[in-house]
Amino acid sequence: MKIPSVKYMRDFYPAEMRLRDWIEGNWRSASLRAGFEPWDSPILESLELYKRKSGDEIVGQLYTLTTKGGEELAIRPEMTPSLARMISARQSALPRPIKWFCAARMCRYERGQRGRLREFWQWNIDLLGVPGPAGDAEVISVALDGLEACGLNAEEIEVRINSRSLMAALLEAIGIPAERHAAVYAVTDKRGKIPADALQEMYRELKLGEEPLARLLEVLTCESLEDLGRVTAAMKLQSHQAALTELEDVFRYLDALGKKAYLKFDIGIVRGLAYYTGPVFEIYDRASKLRALCGGGRYDRLLETMGGQAMPAVGFGMGDVVLSELLADLKKLPTLQSGTDFVIVPLEEERVVDALRITGMLRQQGRSAEATAKAGNLGKAFKKANESGAKVVVLVGGREWEQGSVRVKDLQSGTERDLAIDGLVSQLTGQA
Ligand code: HAM
Repeated sequence: MKIPSVKYMRDFYPAEMRLRDWIEGNWRSASLRAGFEPWDSPILESLELYKRKSGDEIVGQLYTLTTKGGEELAIRPEMTPSLARMISARQSALPRPIKWFCAARMCRYERGQRGRLREFWQWNIDLLGVPGPAGDAEVISVALDGLEACGLNAEEIEVRINSRSLMAALLEAIGIPAERHAAVYAVTDKRGKIPADALQEMYRELKLGEEPLARLLEVLTCESLEDLGRVTAAMKLQSHQAALTELEDVFRYLDALGKKAYLKFDIGIVRGLAYYTGPVFEIYDRASKLRALCGGGRYDRLLETMGGQAMPAVGFGMGDVVLSELLADLKKLPTLQSGTDFVIVPLEEERVVDALRITGMLRQQGRSAEATAKAGNLGKAFKKANESGAKVVVLVGGREWEQGSVRVKDLQSGTERDLAIDGLVSQLTGQA
């Protein structure tokens, strides 16, 4: 009996692996271009880390295990608690600002659906030690650089931005005390994911009081910062001004970084995770067919709560699943080839060793090369070379060999020429 793979987890055959590598390569180059450094942590962490740091939703999705030694562990569902744990362990020794990135495997026991699996890869960018909007704008702009590297543009995706500090100030001003904010955020985070009337009912069930609920629902209708200005002026609310100015600066800085076309204020973005304190954002496909490609925000208090010193922090996570789905929907999946630059074809059985010798020398020169397994069969050799993206085919044998040369075909230009066997490899490496 064949044993199937685990539900909502993927096998990566070479074709799928090429796509994952390509996505991770784009994430990596966008990170390095902005001066971020790679890091990683173990796949297992103590269960306690997530219980304390991630919030109920993620804790409910953990893969947990108890070791033979009795330790309670969990497979990482996100990187931020590990990052906070690692940074707080060496905080004074690490050079500032701390600019870290990773593309890491993680697991969440979620209800499997389009864009949501139980194992996925997530790009994380985190910037610590830079207070205020400059840091927020920097990480959002790097997220967009990574998506642009994958071929996406402002007509296809948008960044929806809000601020937890702005929301906290507004909620406070309309009469919802701080201890009820987490509950309001938990319901608000469901906006767009469940029907509007079910959402209204959830707000009502919070028993916030008639007046605060009515004001809350009115504030939540605001579709732009201008709308918000009008509504809050009518309600004579003022204490949110500092948080509002901070958010406006995030927009201004992102404009300066060339990303204005992507930006949208969205009062429904509050993020499901417990640790966010300031501006928060999510990136979506404009057609809103898929779940969020990316989510992040400012979490200035997480380090302190891990026993470290207070340190401003902002970052995001972007998954490979939604991104691949969006590229497929937009017919933007790249054609990826994985062949060697040189394909060496022995024309006769006696030339197999000569072909292997040329192959070995090319590899020693740092070039990618492979010899076809069977002598002859030119048609098959050229077909494979073309499909795998080879640049040069070298035919070893025939009349040319007897005359001390080989026939070399450049697949890009279609030209052919004969090169002397003596000094062949240096001539070839000068060519491709
Ligand atoms: P998150 O919103 O939980 O944030 O996840 C970020 C992204 O990871 C999502 O937008 C989605 O693309 C992807 N993702 C999450 N769960 C799944 C899943 N089950 N299947 C496929 N993709 C998924 C965080 O994880 C924060 N730790 C991000 C962060 C970093 N904040 C600050 N620094």
